[in-house]
Amino acid sequence: MHSPAAPAPAPAAAATAAGLAQTPHPPGAWFEHRARLGAVLAPMAGFTDAPFRRLCRHYGAAWAVTEMVSAKGLSLGTGGGVEVGEPYPDERDVVIQLFAADPALAGAAVERLERTYRPAAFDLNMGCPVKKVVNTGCGSELLRDPTRAAAVVRAMVAATLRPVSVKLRLGIDSVVAVEVARAVVDAGAVALAVHGRTARQRYEGEADWDRIAEVAAAVDVPVLGSGDVVDEAGYARARARGLGVMIARGSLGRPWVFACVRGSAAPDATEIALVAWRHVRDHVAWYGGEGSLRRLRAQLGHYALAALVDRAGGETTTAASAFRAALVRAERSADVAVAFARFVGVDPRHPPADLDPTLRALVDAPALRRPTSGSPPRGPAG
Ligand SMILES: Cc1cc2nc3c(=O)[nH]c(=O)nc-3n(C[C@H](O)[C@H](O)[C@H](O)COP(=O)(O)O)c2cc1C
Repeated sequence: MHSPAAPAPAPAAAATAAGLAQTPHPPGAWFEHRARLGAVLAPMAGFTDAPFRRLCRHYGAAWAVTEMVSAKGLSLGTGGGVEVGEPYPDERDVVIQLFAADPALAGAAVERLERTYRPAAFDLNMGCPVKKVVNTGCGSELLRDPTRAAAVVRAMVAATLRPVSVKLRLGIDSVVAVEVARAVVDAGAVALAVHGRTARQRYEGEADWDRIAEVAAAVDVPVLGSGDVVDEAGYARARARGLGVMIARGSLGRPWVFACVRGSAAPDATEIALVAWRHVRDHVAWYGGEGSLRRLRAQLGHYALAALVDRAGGETTTAASAFRAALVRAERSADVAVAFARFVGVDPRHPPADLDPTLRALVDAPALRRPTSGSPPRGPAG
């Protein structure tokens, strides 16, 4: 498989992101334009950090959303995850997701993150069903109160010239997405992403794309659907309905899914080993030590599965289980390289000479380091 580079940022889009008020484009143009280029990396707490975002963008993700940042945490000066939104050097088209229930804190968080990181856009999380988040009135809890949700969006919009989007679920127990979507669009959200499940469903059942399409029909802004897209057919179905597409779980240990949904063949085991190794090196460099590798273990297990599908058609053999176990228990980077060499026959520390140039560029790129390593801005927002 070739390794397509991320779509070149269109100058118009970059200009729009940099200064929306100065362009003649409608406010949702940034999202509309880019959503045509391919699927988007959905926000995933614990996963969509800078090292992973870079890989997904390399394979053509139209943009990438950060892990969610706590507006309240930022205001308390605990760091609050400000570093979560930190772009890697030269990162373009990053959208920072916030979770917030208080309009004033949301506005202050946007101002602070904009000053610090200059993202392309901001997104409000209205889908997270996790107790810790909903107990503070944030995430999917906002679906209960469209007036409050609208106030939070209004405060975010007032705090920035960059576009603001909202990512929501269909509802909490029942489907209320159309009503909520209208409220947040009236408040200034210029794009929506809709996960086609209620909060109560968590990840059960299938995402309901008919309901997502109903939301899209009810509002005059670009709508992206989220839920269960993992391949070209799923991507094409959503695009045929005029919807943009977000991919979350289907990208874990498979950042090339963004190329595959646009027709590229799946990578072979050599490429998988090299990409996993790239991820490991960037992760360790970004977080500043081998000890951080534990956080990557879950994804390493997904890389193992992908490599096994290439080598053995996905057969579960004893060797396959041993390979996966070796990756999810890796203590040090070298353990990952050794496991690939032993079970897949590719030592990613010694890449073949005849690599495709874009893959070669990815393999040879310097490891990703945090520009503000060790010194995320602290203190009360504002
Ligand atoms: C581990 C994990 C973390 C997630 N974190 C977030 C988050 O921080 N913000 C958010 O809006 N959605 C989050 N989601 C939801 C996804 O963005 C997406 O809507 C959902 O997983 C359905 O898409 P999928 O079938 O492609 O996984 C998360 C999902 C997963 C699996």
